[in-house]
Amino acid sequence: MPRAEDGPRVSKLIALSPPLDVNSGYCNLLQCTDFQDTCILAERGSALLGWISAYRPPSSPEQIFVWQVAVDPVARGQNLARNMLDALLARPAVATATALTTTITEDNEASWALFRAFARRHGATLTRSPRFDRHAHFAGAHDTEWEARISPLPALSK
Ligand SMILES: CC(C)(COP(=O)(O)OP(=O)(O)OC[C@H]1O[C@@H](n2cnc3c(N)ncnc32)[C@H](O)[C@@H]1OP(=O)(O)O)[C@@H](O)C(=O)NCCC(=O)NCCS
Repeated sequence: MPRAEDGPRVSKLIALSPPLDVNSGYCNLLQCTDFQDTCILAERGSALLGWISAYRPPSSPEQIFVWQVAVDPVARGQNLARNMLDALLARPAVATATALTTTITEDNEASWALFRAFARRHGATLTRSPRFDRHAHFAGAHDTEWEARISPLPALSK
């Protein structure tokens, strides 16, 4: 679980992980504090190797929304993202969630593979629909973000 002191190294890891959007340092600090129950980091020694930010959307509290997943390039391909997702699901703060949602751009193969594998592993169904449109919501400056919805969630913490 992150603490305020982790904010700067979370920002650094995200900067190392294109195509993720870089957030303000202040945004990462809020994630590490107000949303620490639903965010997770992975360390080896003092090195930060993995990070997931997530929250329970106030308007859809039955969901856990995964905002960003980042694994340091040196630690990729070793199931770290997979294990962080499962550990997040086992948190008490996620116990009542019945669906995981996230958004992914069409061309982010690694991200689609991660969430497809997650759904498959837990016997859940992944559906996708456009969420934030390139023109209507990003003024042409960002590819469309597709929402992936995975449900039902396994009862890891129940
Ligand atoms: C996407 C990312 C988080 C994956 O982290 P990782 O720790 O290497 O992923 P894992 O080893 O846990 O792999 C999980 C699944 O995704 C698949 N996968 C991971 N990276 C992949 C890639 N580049 N291409 C295709 N499949 C990939 C794995 O094969 C595995 O599927 P399997 O269980 O069917 O074998 C990492 O590549 C990253 O940080 N990318 C940059 C940031 C980003 O795009 N984040 C997207 C999420 S918002």
